[in-house]
Amino acid sequence: MPQEKFYITTPIYYVNDVPHIGHAYTTIAADVVARYKRLEGYEVFFLTGTDEHGQKVQQAANDLGVSPQEHVDKLHRRFKELWVRLNISNSDFIRTTEERHKKLVRDILQELHSKDEIYQDSYEGWYCTPCERFWTEKDLAEGNCPECRRKVEKIKEHNYFFRMGKYQQWLVDRIKNDPHFILPTSRRNEVLGFLDKPLEDLCISRPKSRLPWGIPLPFDEEYVTYVWFDALINYISVHGSLDDIKASGFWPADHNMVGKDILTTHAVYWSTMLKAIGMEPPKNIFAHGWWTVNGQKMSKSLFNVVEPNNLIDQFGVDVIRYFLLREVPFGLDGDFSHKALIGRLNSDLANNLGNLLNRTISMMKKYFDGVIPTRSTISDEDSVLAVKSKEVIDDVRKLYDELAYNKILQKIWELVDATNQYIDKAGPWNLVKTDEGKERLKTVMYNSAESLRVLGVLLNPFMPTSTETLMKQLGVETSVEEQGMKSINEWGGLKPGSQTKQAKQLFPRIEDKQAEKILAELAAPKEEKKDDQITIDEFMKVELRTGKILEAEKVKKSKKLIQLKVDIGTETRQVLAGIAESYEPEDLIGRTVIIVANLKPAKLMGIESQGMVLAASKDGKILLAGFDQEPGQGIQVR
Ligand code: MSP
Repeated sequence: MPQEKFYITTPIYYVNDVPHIGHAYTTIAADVVARYKRLEGYEVFFLTGTDEHGQKVQQAANDLGVSPQEHVDKLHRRFKELWVRLNISNSDFIRTTEERHKKLVRDILQELHSKDEIYQDSYEGWYCTPCERFWTEKDLAEGNCPECRRKVEKIKEHNYFFRMGKYQQWLVDRIKNDPHFILPTSRRNEVLGFLDKPLEDLCISRPKSRLPWGIPLPFDEEYVTYVWFDALINYISVHGSLDDIKASGFWPADHNMVGKDILTTHAVYWSTMLKAIGMEPPKNIFAHGWWTVNGQKMSKSLFNVVEPNNLIDQFGVDVIRYFLLREVPFGLDGDFSHKALIGRLNSDLANNLGNLLNRTISMMKKYFDGVIPTRSTISDEDSVLAVKSKEVIDDVRKLYDELAYNKILQKIWELVDATNQYIDKAGPWNLVKTDEGKERLKTVMYNSAESLRVLGVLLNPFMPTSTETLMKQLGVETSVEEQGMKSINEWGGLKPGSQTKQAKQLFPRIEDKQAEKILAELAAPKEEKKDDQITIDEFMKVELRTGKILEAEKVKKSKKLIQLKVDIGTETRQVLAGIAESYEPEDLIGRTVIIVANLKPAKLMGIESQGMVLAASKDGKILLAGFDQEPGQGIQVR
């Protein structure tokens, strides 16, 4: 039977933004479903990426004095790198400046233009630069942008428009006839409310004279494509042409996962764009809620952006993944606090789950030399545990359809609690005292470990690393990914005779003192660090030392290089310097220079250089950095 396909997407994030827990939240949520569906045997395509055109990028690049392309080539990596650290299993990463994307955007524009779905008109409206959107007079909130409340400008220009308005009734019917299309229901009602007013056509161009950084319209090179019209197409351009996506079997996508802030663009712009090109809208658009931090909106200017990299360093990646999805029902807003995170880590992860694993493995070692025993007697308690496990698995499967992550985790914890209670009730420490008890102990220990195996599979999408470690401790060698959900369809899959392994705790508790310290550090006011600035700690990583030149000779066949032997106090280094056009070797001997002493050695023209000499370059002449008094060699320079 061919593998069933499943397609899930995140928004593509503005490349200018500093990735924070809000972005991480959507991406982790999508990742959990992608991983779960893979465990169920689906062929999954999971897409994320970056949105790289538009005015804000152009502005930021101008401010830095670099080209927009250079700027986005550098910035998009922050997202890519974070996803690696967060264990995101995306199938591809789309960037809207890639050729594959630009080509499809232009093809679609051309097709819509030739079908008269796009027309030119003059337009006068209020433009909000930060939101890159036109508003009508009646949209404005006290004369300002209704979305960001900032000032708007009156702009009159010729532009191109997509006939979005004509799809209004179709869209209303589509939403009403399919309760699964837009979720949660409260958000679906908001979209229907928006569609109560007449739907206007969508302005899809910006004159190049005002904004050159975008995809040129194929039928009028004086204009570039409006950034939203461009960005939304990413969900299909990643698969190639329209024919490619149709043939791929991945369309319609199963879930377009977005934050509530961008639901209208997805539910209205994207669905009608797809309709106009003869394609189905996604099966589901799910708009989740908004994270604030200690009750405030996250913002660079408030210095309260919760940076996922710091959280990972502090608490570990799986703890973050777990917390974000456990703390707040998906769809509702939530408030992030480190205190709550530490609380969940200590109670749910360290005490409940971690303790269950620890004591099971310890008792297995103590009573059975670490080897999983074969079950002997079967009692009512054993059946109750097996039935509970089955009930949890069935419910979890259903809850995934609603993307009810917090309920899924609550349900899974019912099995954690049931297993802890099962052990407490059986009391292995008493059973071991009699021969009859010892027989019973085999079943009790087997079942506790089996329950942990089930938990390992169920929790794997949320905590991929820790659950693989858990499985290894249970002596299961095959990865959860290979085992799949099918491996827990029947109770009793754990192989007797396997050797368990005692290891360090999966989720070490954060004790009160340590928690206080972490919270105090976090509460200390922080200064903003710009992208092109480094901290004093980063600077101090560069080891600068004074060194005395002992020998100097020109490198054969090189116009520029001189090979130096430099005494840096602790040792003599061979250093190559590109200074031959400005200095004669003999004039260098005895001179004190500044050396970067901890630079990774590199070969130049086949000769190893074990450091770098500091120098300035003016009008092609090189000037070695030095001192007005002789400091001697091996002195640190700061
Ligand atoms: N580039 C557009 C999306 C284009 S999709 C074709 C964009 N980018 S964004 O960088 O601003 O990302 C917005 C998304 O990031 C939200 O929809 C949400 O998924 C996530 N979040 C950003 N901040 C968030 C919170 N504070 N809380 C929860 N999610 C948030 O809009």
